Amino acid sequence: MKLQGWVSFSNLAAGVLSSASWRLVALSSSSSSSSSQKHVCLSRQSVANMAEEAKKLAAYAAVDNHVQNNQVVGVGSGSTIVYAVDRLGENPGLLLVTCCPISGLVLPQARQLILQHGLALSDLDRHPELDVAIDGADEVDADLTLIKGGGGCLTQEKIVAGCAKHFVVIADYRKDSKALGQQWKKGVPIEVIPMAYVPVSRTIAKRFGGEANLRMAVSKAGPVVTDNSNFILDWKFEHADNWKEVNTAIKMIPGVVETGLFVGMAERAYFGMEDGSVQVRDPPVN
Ligand code: 5RP
Repeated sequence: MKLQGWVSFSNLAAGVLSSASWRLVALSSSSSSSSSQKHVCLSRQSVANMAEEAKKLAAYAAVDNHVQNNQVVGVGSGSTIVYAVDRLGENPGLLLVTCCPISGLVLPQARQLILQHGLALSDLDRHPELDVAIDGADEVDADLTLIKGGGGCLTQEKIVAGCAKHFVVIADYRKDSKALGQQWKKGVPIEVIPMAYVPVSRTIAKRFGGEANLRMAVSKAGPVVTDNSNFILDWKFEHADNWKEVNTAIKMIPGVVETGLFVGMAERAYFGMEDGSVQVRDPPVN
């Protein structure tokens, strides 16, 4: 069944709202205690809690709606997928295939999560066809085109998604966007062969505008090295009309391994919202 537009899962919302602790903090203006001059805002901690609850809502909804007993399920990486694995862990009959199986760089470790939950772990050698794949995203636009790879695992995530009969995205409200770049400001991740990163970066800037910068590690000296021993360029684009064409063109540049543009792959996105609801987006019908 295809759903169009937004659907609210009020039953899920009710569950979350009752358990959530949204803390409203009243800030008095310095010169007056008049209630009309008071501003009410969410504390930083509450915003973080809200985002975590939103991730959990989206993940639970996707698992509940798309995963059945005895299925082979692909699992991506990131902080949102943790909640999906939590939910999957309640069904020991599942067989999970994950990307980033040996990563020491990408957090959190889906493989470790799967094992922690006592779920069976497999791989694409044994299960090249998955019933469903679930993964997070850095940004989701109105067409369900995604930017992925904020955690550096884009190539393996794209392989896992491409092996699935159904690919479902889970995200909190901050990832929801009309057009790519509105929410995610770090650019499109592009995995490149290390010796080619300079020419690839120059070619991208020349042909498509913007700049493609080598991603540097945070708690280690030097560039981020992917699970495939490659580098990542983050392309801060200025403008793009047709992501399918751009993705294909970038992939044709010698030295490019994969892009974090997932075009025409996701068949549904679940967004956990600030108000505790879950909203569903399907790709537009052309
Ligand atoms: C990693 C990814 C993640 O799926 C993406 O970064 C979303 O992560 P999170 O759920 O932590 O927001 O593409 O390469």
